[in-house]
Amino acid sequence: MQEHESGYFTEENSVEVVTARNRNAGNPRLQEVMEVITRKLHEAVREIEPTEEEWMQAIMFLTRTGQICDDTRQEFILLSDILGVSMLADAIRSRRPSGATENTVLGPFHVDGAPEREMGDNICLDQKGEPMFVHGVVRDTDGNPLEGVRLDVWEANDEGFYDVQQQGIQPEFNLRGVFTTGADGRYWFRAVKPKFYPIPDDGPVGQLLGHLGRHPYRPAHFHYLVSLDGYQKLTTHIFDPDDRYIHSDCVFGVKESLMAEFKPVDDPAEAARHGFTGRFFDVEYDFVLARMETT
Ligand code: BEZ
Ligand code: FE
Repeated sequence: MQEHESGYFTEENSVEVVTARNRNAGNPRLQEVMEVITRKLHEAVREIEPTEEEWMQAIMFLTRTGQICDDTRQEFILLSDILGVSMLADAIRSRRPSGATENTVLGPFHVDGAPEREMGDNICLDQKGEPMFVHGVVRDTDGNPLEGVRLDVWEANDEGFYDVQQQGIQPEFNLRGVFTTGADGRYWFRAVKPKFYPIPDDGPVGQLLGHLGRHPYRPAHFHYLVSLDGYQKLTTHIFDPDDRYIHSDCVFGVKESLMAEFKPVDDPAEAARHGFTGRFFDVEYDFVLARMETT
């Protein structure tokens, strides 16, 4: 028997015994992570003192969380989101110089391979929802416009569903598109005004929210992945500050700097100039990308 296997497990030395047993781990990072997880988990169990029934409830909750996952449903990410863990991990990974646009959660609805579009294109393919014109400039932290920036945009429709949640109902790649800036750093496109919507809440995470007296809603937003070689990739949203859930996003994704005014425009000439027939919303938001080496 090796020395590190000789300790008998007790309530008092539980962390040391388990950690010592992992001493021959081939991967030092795995060993470090398991040491922290063991320490924190044992601390929680010591404080909570779960009954056998409560411990079994926790096991069954995690079992159901795994069982509902498939190629398009990731309940563990939703769990991480509603616990604030996704936002905390993201905040730690994406520390930036002041002035650079802030990150927020990616969410489970990004799709690779969205069509490349021309500036001004309408990403709404089924003419549903209230029209919205979105525009702005992408700059570096010194204020210079950036050319060749890829803006990958996606949003839910006016009923709160992404195309991938309504296959056969919405056109494929509805409300998605990739735009690339020219030398002036400008971008502009047409879309629909987003609305608040619930995260998928028909599974164990939705039930947990219910038990905690929490709603499952996200305030109205649309998503961006903004990227350019040599710059930190930006994963973010633009939020409507007037949304009823702006102060209680169920996944904690809202940041003050990510709100933009959704200005209603009633002028028919302006509407025609933007390719709309009636009232539309104008949203202006400038992005600032941080260089790769800066934090
Ligand atoms: C989203 O905004 O698409 C989203 C983010 C986190 C959880 C569910 C949805
Ligand atoms: Fe979303």
